[in-house]
Amino acid sequence: MDTHFNYPEPRDLRVNDPSAHEGIVLQGLSKSFGTKKVLDQCDLLINKGETLVVIGRSGEGKSVLLKSIVRLLDVDEGRVWVEGAEINEMSLRPLMQLRRKFGFLFQGAALFDSMTICKNIGLMLEEHTDWPPEKIRERACACLTMVGLHQVEDKLPSALSGGMKKRAGLARAIVMDPEYILYDEPTTGLDPITSDAINDLIIKGKQELGVTSIVVTHDMPSAFKIADRIAMLNGGKIVFTGTVDEVRSTDHPMVRQFIEGSSQGPLETF
Ligand SMILES: Nc1ncnc2c1ncn2[C@@H]1O[C@H](COP(=O)(O)OP(=O)(O)OP(=O)(O)O)[C@@H](O)[C@H]1O
Ligand SMILES: [Mg+2]
Repeated sequence: MDTHFNYPEPRDLRVNDPSAHEGIVLQGLSKSFGTKKVLDQCDLLINKGETLVVIGRSGEGKSVLLKSIVRLLDVDEGRVWVEGAEINEMSLRPLMQLRRKFGFLFQGAALFDSMTICKNIGLMLEEHTDWPPEKIRERACACLTMVGLHQVEDKLPSALSGGMKKRAGLARAIVMDPEYILYDEPTTGLDPITSDAINDLIIKGKQELGVTSIVVTHDMPSAFKIADRIAMLNGGKIVFTGTVDEVRSTDHPMVRQFIEGSSQGPLETF
């Protein structure tokens, strides 16, 4: 199998002046764990108001990339700008301030096991507002309703199914009305109907509230439905970016193999 091919690097990964960009700019991000280099001089641009979907094989570093955007994980090299502010050198206080603009849906939901769903979802409001408990509860329940969860607010996470936990994680990500939402596999493990409702929620956030979203997913029907642009991460770099139509029609062998879900092609299987 010929795994060597030349394909031009995407042209929309960089801007000349990141400090003047309205959205998010990642430049030259590298991150290793031990001897494994996960991100390797990775560049990416997220325009304000768009939904960017990141695809890529398991273990390629999609979650690492997402976490590095809000410095939940520190990179070894490279820089991240959010609305013109570089976050790598930022001290804790402005970083916390900036993080309040973000909602994060973690891959494994990451709910606190010992707290009720309502408490989990309301935590950020408790910390960052002076709202009374009833108002926080009301907002938490409204977010649960948005993700199709009813009467679970007083339950512990252990009483919820995997898909319900994922949706509770999503309710937590939107509770502060964030300007940016980072979704790590929002529809994985959900039935197709619930997945589509989550897709609609992502689209609605963009259309009605102007939310900027970065969505990591393997779920191509969802990607095609929600994306303004799709970026593929491979070998530590973004190897392709394009609109849904461009992805559907590209002859880029890695992208073709990925969207066709084929074991044959430049992406090696185990
Ligand atoms: N905290 C960590 N410590 C050590 N290695 C890590 C850590 N986080 C990620 N890795 C490694 O970095 C690589 C990329 O992980 P990451 O979770 O970003 O992959 P992914 O693309 O999100 O995969 P998946 O689709 O399976 O979620 C993996 O090899 C993983 O083992
Ligand atoms: Mg992941």
